[in-house]
Amino acid sequence: KILRPTTIIIFGATGDLAKRKLFPAFYNLYIDGRMPKGFNILALGRAENTDEDFKNYVKENLENFSRKKLTQEDWAGFQAHITYFRHQLDQESSYVDLQKKLKDFDTIYGTRANRLFYLSIGPNFISTISNHIKKSELASDPKKDRIIIEKPFGHDKQSAIELNQLLSETFEEEQIYRIDHYLGKETVQNILAFRFGNSIFEPLWDHKHIESVQITVAEEVGVETRGSFYEQTGALRDMIQNHLLQILCMVAMEPPATLESGEIRDRKVDVLKSIRRIPADKVDHYAVRGQYGKNTINGFEAKGYRQENGIAPDSNTETFAAVKFYLDNERWQGVPFYVRTGKKMKEKHSYITIQFKPLPNPTFSATQHHLAANRLVINIQPLMDIRLQFMAKKPGLTLSLEPVEMIFDYFVCQEDTPEAYETLLLDALMGDLTLFMRSDQVEEAWDVVKTIQEAWENNKDASFPNYKAGSWGPDESFTLVERQGDKWW
Ligand code: BG6
Repeated sequence: KILRPTTIIIFGATGDLAKRKLFPAFYNLYIDGRMPKGFNILALGRAENTDEDFKNYVKENLENFSRKKLTQEDWAGFQAHITYFRHQLDQESSYVDLQKKLKDFDTIYGTRANRLFYLSIGPNFISTISNHIKKSELASDPKKDRIIIEKPFGHDKQSAIELNQLLSETFEEEQIYRIDHYLGKETVQNILAFRFGNSIFEPLWDHKHIESVQITVAEEVGVETRGSFYEQTGALRDMIQNHLLQILCMVAMEPPATLESGEIRDRKVDVLKSIRRIPADKVDHYAVRGQYGKNTINGFEAKGYRQENGIAPDSNTETFAAVKFYLDNERWQGVPFYVRTGKKMKEKHSYITIQFKPLPNPTFSATQHHLAANRLVINIQPLMDIRLQFMAKKPGLTLSLEPVEMIFDYFVCQEDTPEAYETLLLDALMGDLTLFMRSDQVEEAWDVVKTIQEAWENNKDASFPNYKAGSWGPDESFTLVERQGDKWW
């Protein structure tokens, strides 16, 4: 697809996200020849930088964060597309200047270019910027102008509705690209290919054949420098409401009739709607929260959450959450979907486990042969592979069975996998909304976690901290799955 000339306007260009993800992604797309023929990145910031200062800063960051090596030649080409623009978010005159700058670029391109506004700033500034964009008519062409925003999309259902309402005053829904960077991950996108590009798995993909589904996103890091943000957020809002529910949607959705973005997003909303809401008085039965405490790991003192910067000494914020969901639809009736996520866990590992039902009447004695039910594991990161576990005969003279694995490994197939942000930014440049969150997806996802969120906010957990840094989370998370004779795989 040939991309139209585009001006990319980054609000918050001196911030962390731009430094670690956005500039490296644009640079890698540039090297791959994926950027439009005419493009400019207008980097907006408050500080008084010269173009040269800012470009040096970008160069330094690319050296640290770019997937592809920084070469003299590529940098010389790329840097010519960057302009630093001093800007005050709340001053009308700043937007008038911006409009002038955008028109100057249009003159150079010889056409009214597409405009991609990237709001890489805190949620408090969205309304100011969006209102000014409207007032100064910066996004006057709904076919050419787009806005990208980062989560959090509100902090509960009501605030998400208000945010969507606010954005809709300036932008049409088709212009709004809400990023959930998990959807840009190669292994997450592959779920659809795996399910709907093969004939052998889909017939087994239901309650008749699947015992349970588990989704784990475990992080080894703690809250790092984001203490004050995290303190207001917690694991349920930070990870489950968005990333984990989105993965769940990919696993559980019905086959879309086409690959149109609207169709795929409709099927995902269907899943969210079918998730059984957890009654307020049953939250403790279906959901577990945890907070990490200090620990000594390999001779080093690991801080507890309450000792981190910006955290209250009696904080009630959860750094771990596990929930058991049921989906009330024909395909998934009775199948538990367990999701869990946590910070300062034993290791960084995100994966999905599809546990198949055991054989109804095994020919081989289950105890004698240690029969294990078939299991499919989709490793999202850092391992990137798909493993199917099945039983096979142990080579030898006797007839004895053992579980074996068949593995599809991404790294063997393609060493150089693009980063999530590369995929997502390219899609936004092309105008493909499939991997972005529509307003109703966001609102429905908030609705799914609503009762849990309220129960946890209103009741302090006296057991906090209840898991050690560097462990797999609180004991109650194990009980959650064991109650049903299951375990975390
Ligand atoms: C972000 C969360 O959305 O995802 C962070 O706000 C979390 O708290 C991060 O660390 C995890 O992303 P990734 O790609 O490193 O798994």
